[in-house]
Amino acid sequence: MDIKSVLAGLVRQAMAESNITTDKSVTARPSARPEFGDYQIDSMMAIGKSQGQNPLQLAERIAAQLMNNKQCKEIIARAEAVKPGFINLFLNDGWLQYQTGLALNDARLLVEKQPAQHVVVDYSSPNVAKEMHVGHLRSTIIGDASVRTLEFLGHKVTRVNHIGDWGTQFGMLIACLEKAENDGDISLSDLEGFYRAAKKLYDEDPEFALKARRYVVKLQQGDEYCRRMWHKLVDISMTQNQKNYDRLGVSLSSADIRGESSYNAMLPEIVNDLLERGIATEEADTVMVYLESYRNKQGDPMGVIIRKQDGGYLYTTTDIACAKYRYQTLHADRILYYIDARQHQHLMMAWEIVRRAGYVPPSVSLEHHKFGMMLDREGKPFKTREGGTIRLSELLEEAVVRAHKLVSEKSPHLPAAELRELSEIIGIGAVKYADLSKNRITDYVFDWDLMLSFEGNTAPYIQYACARISSILRKAELIQPQGDPVVTSLKFTSDTERSLAVKILQFEEALLAVAREGMPNIMCSYLYELASLFSGFYAASPILNHDQPQERQSRLALAALTGRVLRQGMDTLGLRVPERM
Ligand code: ARG
Repeated sequence: MDIKSVLAGLVRQAMAESNITTDKSVTARPSARPEFGDYQIDSMMAIGKSQGQNPLQLAERIAAQLMNNKQCKEIIARAEAVKPGFINLFLNDGWLQYQTGLALNDARLLVEKQPAQHVVVDYSSPNVAKEMHVGHLRSTIIGDASVRTLEFLGHKVTRVNHIGDWGTQFGMLIACLEKAENDGDISLSDLEGFYRAAKKLYDEDPEFALKARRYVVKLQQGDEYCRRMWHKLVDISMTQNQKNYDRLGVSLSSADIRGESSYNAMLPEIVNDLLERGIATEEADTVMVYLESYRNKQGDPMGVIIRKQDGGYLYTTTDIACAKYRYQTLHADRILYYIDARQHQHLMMAWEIVRRAGYVPPSVSLEHHKFGMMLDREGKPFKTREGGTIRLSELLEEAVVRAHKLVSEKSPHLPAAELRELSEIIGIGAVKYADLSKNRITDYVFDWDLMLSFEGNTAPYIQYACARISSILRKAELIQPQGDPVVTSLKFTSDTERSLAVKILQFEEALLAVAREGMPNIMCSYLYELASLFSGFYAASPILNHDQPQERQSRLALAALTGRVLRQGMDTLGLRVPERM
């Protein structure tokens, strides 16, 4: 249930009943302070202005009309117009108690399935024959959280791992792989080293460079040997990446790979089409498209090359093709790209061409969900001490080692196997959550101590809240007389219980916001607030030793429901939660 739209609907209805028509939108949002009610409507300011009416009087009229309506009064206990034209809405306790009871008995926690869209999500997308590094972490896990959220809301999602598996570097890589095989040394466990070795040979050995360039041409012509070697490189590389995905709990598999190479056959057609329709122009064997939105220093439209003089295509050409494919072949309703902010201009340019050519209609959105860099504590790009990129696999290993140390100090009595599992859950969870909980658009500082802390907006804090709830429920099972009443509707006896219930019922709002903006940090903040409210409730209200069975049941139910929302929320983020810790 999306309380926001329920309330906005009631207000629209009250406006219709008062014969007020408007093309302005009516929205509700959670109030900033309890004295402003649970939700606030601020739309009357704009509506009043547009109709030449005093906003406060308008707000008063609508507030009165709301309270005139029987159906409305079941949901809203009080509607209050305040200067300069807000309507503060106070939800009815009875309604909240009833809804929480419904949530308790609903496997989806009252989250409705949305009218399904087909959403194509481009994420992770590393380059082949290079090891995944920390830069790929963000795209991989933010993209995956977005995918899981969309799926939970009922959308059809196609994951696309748009790997960099094409380009002139493959000539040199094939030549190097061939040499390694001849030398009987093909353990490509160190891809980074392999890539560097290939580059070194290419730069220093003219014979090797010549061969490498020949292999590029042969590969593009579909030469069987080159294709086979290329396949091998892609396989080795993606098998290694899959290990990272598995350890991270990322839902990508080999079936989701659709790399740059797969659009290769489309490129000549596209360039010809753009030329024929006068969108592209050919100058000295180079094919260009001049863009309206991008101007050079002289103020003239800026040109983008889509086919080089030697006939080669570019990253931009591939992105034109892949957008076209995602709409025309996959029939996407919405296409999301989780890519580094530094590629923003590249995407905007490719999409300007896509739109002009009509390859994707305006009704289908192309969205760049960009993100900033990972920085170290000094605010510099996150690198090894030697200035190299940090391998993702090493980062994850370090996270688990650190978590292991922490957990063995905190819970020295745990059996070794459980300790190992818990370290994995906490360590990987901490790294993922630290990233997911930041607004993706800005750079963020990677800080081991902060992310592994049991206090604040961290994975361990939320995981701990879940484990504590599980422990309460286990104890309840032990001490509870079988005859306790079954809960269908809850009963709040304190403000903390009420606040907790309101938060629980806002789960769908958080999910919808994440799905719309592709910003999992909204879910993290929500879960953190929920877990904090639970801590407050737990500290203030006895649960297990409450002497009234009815109230004990209600509080237990609230605890159980909190636990389920926390777990479901963590699941949409791709995070695991332990039963005990
Ligand atoms: N392989 C690219 C990189 O590592 C990212 C590709 C993103 N997707 C796309 N459709 N351009 O930078």
